[in-house]
Amino acid sequence: MGRLWRPLLLGAVVVAATFALAQMVVFEPSAPPAATLAGGDVYRGQVAFERACASCHGSGGEGGSVGPPLVDTGLDAAEVAATIEQGRGVMPPALVSGEEQADAVAYVVSISSR
Ligand code: HEC
Repeated sequence: MGRLWRPLLLGAVVVAATFALAQMVVFEPSAPPAATLAGGDVYRGQVAFERACASCHGSGGEGGSVGPPLVDTGLDAAEVAATIEQGRGVMPPALVSGEEQADAVAYVVSISSR
């Protein structure tokens, strides 16, 4: 009879230890990596992107009817900034500028290297 309790006791110890560890580790919503990139803010950039770019490039840059997908393209910040400033094909130049441009660049770079 005594032996039967051993696995249960062991289980209880494991559960207790797990809870103890969970208490020790501070679970904070950690800032996702690369929240700032190339001097811009990825999250503000996402907002700007959804407003100024998603109509052509699709939500999240997944590609739309007019614009090509920007996800997984490996574009770097300089290329994205140049495209925004100069426009490309039917894409008008300077849809965003200043800090908003930096933010949009950061966002596009973040999705292009996904
Ligand atoms: C009116 C539609 C339209 C809008 C709005 C638009 N784009 Fe574009 N974009 C395009 C098209 C079309 C291309 C491809 C042009 C070509 O290569 O002929 C393009 C190309 C690009 C490229 C180059 C992609 C590559 O693979 O080289 C980037 C980067 C880009 N757009 C970013 C943006 C960003 C950032 C915004 C918002 C600030 C934006 N675009 C808004 C239509 C648009």
